[in-house]
Amino acid sequence: MRRREWEWHANLGPIKTPQLAELHDDLWDIVDSNVQDGDKAKGAVAVDAFPGLGKTTSVLAFLGEFHRREIAERGAFTGAGNERLPVCRVGLTGNTGMKDLNRSLLEFFGHPGRNRGTTAQFGQRALDCVVSCEVRLLALDDLHFLKWNQKNGIEVSNHLKWIANEFPVTLVMIGVGLAGKGLFSEGDSRRDTALAQTGRRTTRLGMRPFTIESEAGRREWRQMLLALEQRVVLADKHPGMLADDLSDYLFARSTGHIGSLMTLINRGCQRAVRSGAERLSRDLLDGVKNDEASEVARSELEAALEKRQLTSRPQYQRRPAA
Ligand SMILES: Nc1ncnc2c1ncn2[C@@H]1O[C@H](COP(=O)(O)OP(=O)(O)O)[C@@H](O)[C@H]1O
Ligand SMILES: [Mg+2]
Repeated sequence: MRRREWEWHANLGPIKTPQLAELHDDLWDIVDSNVQDGDKAKGAVAVDAFPGLGKTTSVLAFLGEFHRREIAERGAFTGAGNERLPVCRVGLTGNTGMKDLNRSLLEFFGHPGRNRGTTAQFGQRALDCVVSCEVRLLALDDLHFLKWNQKNGIEVSNHLKWIANEFPVTLVMIGVGLAGKGLFSEGDSRRDTALAQTGRRTTRLGMRPFTIESEAGRREWRQMLLALEQRVVLADKHPGMLADDLSDYLFARSTGHIGSLMTLINRGCQRAVRSGAERLSRDLLDGVKNDEASEVARSELEAALEKRQLTSRPQYQRRPAA
């Protein structure tokens, strides 16, 4: 019986945060205008932001919606009778080379020729699959794992440019610090022509953490906590458990990063179930570890919040002064 709650708390999402909604709006704009452009070379998108801000979660949610829409409109099979796969997504892992990238594309399609061949052959087979299955969106997640040093920088960006130009898809690149890798910069025009050309047709989309400097920001933080506390399944929870009672505390511990917040809430819920407390409180959460980056920023922020130089709560939610 406990197992179900355990699984539930490990999968609390995705919440429709403003960050997710904004990213989806931008992606729909770009993807739909690309579809209208027919056979013209498609623009690419780069979702570029720090880890833990919800890039993977938000993009996956978008890919799911896009997949369902395409299948509903066009059917599960292509005109030629192949399975329609509107979306191809590949997540890269440590130090991937170009050949590994092409191979993972083939793996996505379960292509029998994924074990033998050259980089170019793998690439060609992947292109065949993309065309046969009428893939519209090609998402490469954690692109910063691509081996991308001084020496092969041009080669990598040429490869991405080849994909962007030859594959009839909208290329969605996701990663950390992609701008720093020269993907968008116009660069030195003689040395970096390849990079510059990728840059011109790539739209960069970021993701921001929650902030509490403005009233609008505090309202967003509160809305998100309200949505989150509805999903938490604990016998003794009460409305406002997160959004009223723990707002400042949770902001200090996560510094507005949704990844850190979700880790903390998830671990807190496991502990609340295990200990029988069945609710989240400051005391309980104090015993829960979070990732290192948030712990470092925490003390400074907590000091400011305690001195009331800063608050995470919107005006209309603050108790009137006595
Ligand atoms: N909109 C959301 N709703 C619920 N949880 C989210 C949301 N966005 C991110 N998360 C959680 O935050 C964590 C980090 O998100 P992730 O998408 O992996 O970030 P990134 O890809 O930017 O590193 C994940 O555990 C995920 O479940
Ligand atoms: Mg990610």
